[in-house]
Amino acid sequence: MALAVLLVAAGLAACAPRAGTAQQAESPAPLPSATGPYAETLRYGRELMHRTPAMLPRNVGAAMSCENCHIDAGTREHVLALTGTYAAFPLWNPRAKRIIAVQDRIAECFLYSVNGTPPAYTSRAMEGLTTYIAWLSRGTPVGERPPGQAPPAFDSPHPPDSAAGAQVYAQRCVACHGADGAGKPGTFPPLWGPHSFNDGAGMDNANMMARFVRYAMPFGSPPNTLTAQEAYDVTAFVLKHPRPHFDPHRAIGFPPRQSSFF
Ligand code: HEC
Ligand code: HEC
Repeated sequence: MALAVLLVAAGLAACAPRAGTAQQAESPAPLPSATGPYAETLRYGRELMHRTPAMLPRNVGAAMSCENCHIDAGTREHVLALTGTYAAFPLWNPRAKRIIAVQDRIAECFLYSVNGTPPAYTSRAMEGLTTYIAWLSRGTPVGERPPGQAPPAFDSPHPPDSAAGAQVYAQRCVACHGADGAGKPGTFPPLWGPHSFNDGAGMDNANMMARFVRYAMPFGSPPNTLTAQEAYDVTAFVLKHPRPHFDPHRAIGFPPRQSSFF
């Protein structure tokens, strides 16, 4: 979707004054042109990153695709890049209080970031996403986490001010994400409301969102277009709006399908 969005963004001179930078022109690494089951699974996995709700309507509650946060299907540096991720797993997860596999981490983004239900670990969807993320990580030594995945950290010079953030939002965000924060389905993802990520998501954390927004937004502008203060202020404004609540007692039926190994 990044390309279609670029075309739209180019027309939005007011909100994307510096669209068309070199960073924008980068496209995700081309997948191998090979045929066969591995290559097909790989392509399917990447397609899932682009069109998650359309392809997995039963697993996705939000009007959001993985790629809305893991921009360029997880290949853009510092924008929650997934390159190298596979090599970092299994790892200790403080939230789960156990060692988790990469499938467990994917499942978390289904539960929180797209406010849904994870596909079975033996499903074609999980197979595709895991294969794609493993492929993105080829060459990274197992047990190492490469730098450049997360957006750079910085602090808020003054306490975040959501009233000032409302002004930033009106000037820099509203054209795409809308006055009601609902975005435009399939083009601009929602920032709050019933179709956004839920309150258990990593993006619901103010530091995470401020860093992401300052590095990657307004979409089409170079990193650090916003000041540190603006990024924290607009984050405070966005996060003060309602969003779905994650209910930990909700029955989560994964893996709902029997595996078929034999
Ligand atoms: C609302 C934004 C958002 C969406 C949508 C989203 N994620 Fe994430 N994802 C995050 C954040 C934030 C992190 C945490 C990064 C961190 O811990 O530094 C993360 C982390 C991950 C990780 C672990 C990365 C690592 O290197 O440890 C994986 C794997 C992942 N996401 C996969 C997915 C998949 C697959 C989807 C789609 C089903 C998805 N995400 C949708 C925001 C999102
Ligand atoms: C030119 C249009 C445009 C503008 C302006 C813009 N965004 Fe976005 N935003 C997008 C697009 C498109 C994505 C998803 C990127 C993708 O799918 O490749 C996105 C994704 C996001 C996300 C992660 C996904 C989600 O829905 O939570 C956040 C947070 C966000 N934008 C916040 C902001 C904030 C805050 C501003 C203003 C400072 C802003 N954006 C300005 C187009 C825009």
